[in-house]
Amino acid sequence: MKILAVESSCDETAVAVVEDGRKVLADEIFSQVKLHEIYGGVVPEIAARSHLEVIVPLADRALKTAGLARRDIDAVACTYAPGLIGAVLVGVNFAKSAALALGVPLIPVHHIRGHIAANYLAFPGLEPPFVCLAISGGNTMLVDVRGYTDMRVLGQTRDDAAGECFDKSARVLGLGYPGGKPIDDLSKQGRDDAYDLPRPSVNDGNPFDMSFSGLKTAVVNLAHHAEQTGQPLDKPGLAASLCRAVSEMLVGRTMDAARMLGYPAVAVAGGVAANSRIRADFAAACQAAGRTLYVPPLRLCGDNAAMIGAQGYYEYQAGHTADSSLNAYATMEL
Ligand code: KG4
Repeated sequence: MKILAVESSCDETAVAVVEDGRKVLADEIFSQVKLHEIYGGVVPEIAARSHLEVIVPLADRALKTAGLARRDIDAVACTYAPGLIGAVLVGVNFAKSAALALGVPLIPVHHIRGHIAANYLAFPGLEPPFVCLAISGGNTMLVDVRGYTDMRVLGQTRDDAAGECFDKSARVLGLGYPGGKPIDDLSKQGRDDAYDLPRPSVNDGNPFDMSFSGLKTAVVNLAHHAEQTGQPLDKPGLAASLCRAVSEMLVGRTMDAARMLGYPAVAVAGGVAANSRIRADFAAACQAAGRTLYVPPLRLCGDNAAMIGAQGYYEYQAGHTADSSLNAYATMEL
C-alpha cells in the first residue's frame, strides 16, 4: 500500500511516499528556518503561508522521486494534531483535497505517533511493545507503545518541552534559532560540570512526569547575571552542563519505565533525539541494563513526512480513517 504523507505542523513542509509503513519511496522536506531565524523563533502566520506556497510543488516532487503517477497512490495521510494551528490546517486541507481528488482514503495521524513511527523506518525489525521517549520542540513524553496504535502516556512535561529548553537557552547565549544543534556543537568544547544546574522533578504523584522550565530559567538567569555584572560566562561549559542536565532528566526515567514494564526495547524519537549527549547516555544506559536501544538517524529525528506515512499505514490497518469533515487541532491526546 502506497501512502502519500503530509507533515506541516511547525516550520517544515514535508511530503513523502511510504510503502506498507516501512519503505520510504520519497521523502521531500522544505525547511523554513531561513524565514524565521531573524525573529529568533517560529512566526506562526509566516509558517502557514510558507506551507501554502510550497506544499503542492513538494507533493509533485515526491511523486516524481518515487517514480509514481497520482493514480498509484492508495491513501493520503496527514498530521492533524498537535501543532501550530494555521500550519496544521494547510496540510490537512491539502490532504483532504488530494484524497478527494484521487478517490482514496484519508488517514489522520497524531504528530507524536509519527515521531515514534520514525523508528519503524529506521529499524525494519522493530515491533511493539517498547518504551519510547518522544522529545521535540513542542512535546516531551514517555510512552508505553503497547501496539502500533495502542499507546499509553506514562509521563510528560508539565511545562516546557526539552526542545524549548534548548531553544530558549540558545537564544540567551546568542546561538540563534533553532538552538538545539548549536548548543550540542558548543557543548563538545566544554566541561559538563562547569555549572551546577537544577534537575527539577515533579513530586506530586507521577514519577514519569517532568519539568524543564526551572532548568531553562536557571540558564537564562546565569546569562543575564553575567551580562549585568560583566563577569565572563563559560558558554561551552554552560552548554555541556545543560546537555548533561537534560539528558539525566530523560534517561533515568525512560530506563525506569522499561524496567517497570519489563520491555527489552527502548526507543527515542523527535528532534531532540539528535542530541549527541542524550544519544550517548542512552547507549550506555541500555548497554548496562541489557536492553536494545532504537534511535533513528538524524534525518528521521526532526519533522518529516515519511514518519507520518509509516504511522498512517498502521492507523489505516486499525481502521482509523477520516471523511472530508476532518479538522486540525492545536492540541490532542496521544
Ligand atoms: O521534532 P522537531 O523537528 O520538531 C517538533 O516537532 O517540535 O524538533 C525540533 C527541536 C528543536 O527544539 C531543536 O532545537 C531540537 O529539536 N534539536 C536539538 C538538536 N537538534 C534539533 N536539540 C538538542 N540537540 C540537538 N542536536
